[in-house]
Amino acid sequence: MTKQSINQNYENQKYFIEKIRDINESVIKKFYIGTFGCQMNVRDSETLHGILSDMGFVETKDEKDSDIIVYNTCCVRENAENKVFGNLGILKNMKKYKPDLKIILCGCMMQQDSIIEKIKSTYRHVDVIFGTFNIQRLPELLYSNYETNEMIIDVWQEHSEIVEDLPVIREKKFKASVNIMFGCNNFCTYCIVPYVRGRERSREKADIIEEIKSLVSDGVKEILLLGQNVNSYGNTLSEETRFSELLRDINEIDGLERIRFITSHPKDLSDDLILAMKECNKVCAHLHLPFQSGSTEILNKMNRRYSKEHYVNLVENIREAIPDIGISTDIIVGFPGESDEDFEDTLDVVRKCKFNSAFTFIYSKRTGTPAAKMDCQIPDDIVKSRFNKLLETVNPIIYDINHSFIGKTVKVLAEDKGSNNMVSGRTEQNTLVHFEAPESIIGNIVDIKINGNKTFYLTGELI
Ligand code: 5AD
Ligand code: SF4
Repeated sequence: MTKQSINQNYENQKYFIEKIRDINESVIKKFYIGTFGCQMNVRDSETLHGILSDMGFVETKDEKDSDIIVYNTCCVRENAENKVFGNLGILKNMKKYKPDLKIILCGCMMQQDSIIEKIKSTYRHVDVIFGTFNIQRLPELLYSNYETNEMIIDVWQEHSEIVEDLPVIREKKFKASVNIMFGCNNFCTYCIVPYVRGRERSREKADIIEEIKSLVSDGVKEILLLGQNVNSYGNTLSEETRFSELLRDINEIDGLERIRFITSHPKDLSDDLILAMKECNKVCAHLHLPFQSGSTEILNKMNRRYSKEHYVNLVENIREAIPDIGISTDIIVGFPGESDEDFEDTLDVVRKCKFNSAFTFIYSKRTGTPAAKMDCQIPDDIVKSRFNKLLETVNPIIYDINHSFIGKTVKVLAEDKGSNNMVSGRTEQNTLVHFEAPESIIGNIVDIKINGNKTFYLTGELI
């Protein structure tokens, strides 16, 4: 048996959990989790929270007040990595006057050998490192560190099994994320994700349904289905199941009110998914559909496997089928070889597709990806001016779309408490809305009459 198969089970961790619980019995130790990156990491941090609670630790939101600091890291862009290194520098000083502080690093950054080498040579004060495939081993690794006081590193390169039944403590009672698949097989040439999250593997439909039913019985009203490319859900299962079929089955779950999902890849978005979205009353009228670049030539270099025309037609078809849909997207500026004409194509797609929101990124060179070795990396000043132009094009369109909501009454899931009796939540289209309401409203879907537009959010009144 390989090390991986011996340790894949959380059950095997019970011995170490008990050992640490014994240590924690006399004093209350607090943990802080810093989460970087995407919704997958946010969901993994909820599992980390569950595992740490099993060991008897309690959460604090104040990093300075904690005995254990966990950074769940992201490596999609360089600035996310720099932030972690910056924080680790600060923790070096903190550990001088708090020598028992434990520093734990996990997540996507840790899957890269160069990062591990850098930590080993420059950040000797880190205690435990693990990766994206073996989160369930945290108790054993932490216990090894308690025993030896040495830096413990355990990063697996690939792991096809899905570990079910890990403990989870959710941020919100009424809303939950559910992984439906892990990894990615697409290998977009700029993206590091397939190298750090491994090959695509789907969870069994029955496991997903069971998890959602149990969440609903626990008070969850809205679920967010997570996968790097949900449209290829089921490809790795022995009994092939399509994503549209999964959505239809989830839609049948009594008590569930809203279903969302991210992320869709334009090359795999099928007509039967559009139909399922239209027909399933619980599926929100929102689609996150990254287009990355409007230039077919750049899309080819990115290995995205669709053209500008395909993307624009797809958006037209979706809007025709579901007229009230909100579409959001991801856009990268400054991919190697991007000419002024290529960038104009990106602006053209923005004007044609009229996105409700857009995540705009400056291309970040990721070592190990094919794009990092491509000729014609674009100079910073050109990228910055294109990026500003992109924002100048995207934002007025978002403003106009949001403006059309003024006077309308929309359904909002009240989620967060702000200052001055304000509460915020999201419409079906995923637009943020602020309104005055008592805190007790949080967790309910309420009718809000929209009365103001601030481009990135709407304001309204509870009716
Ligand atoms: N540089 C900039 N943005 C990137 N993304 C992924 N890799 C990179 C990179 N190297 C963006 C894509 C993706 C989103 C999650 O992050 O737009 O859809
Ligand atoms: Fe990265 Fe492309 Fe996979 Fe998304 S689909 S995670 S951008 S490789």
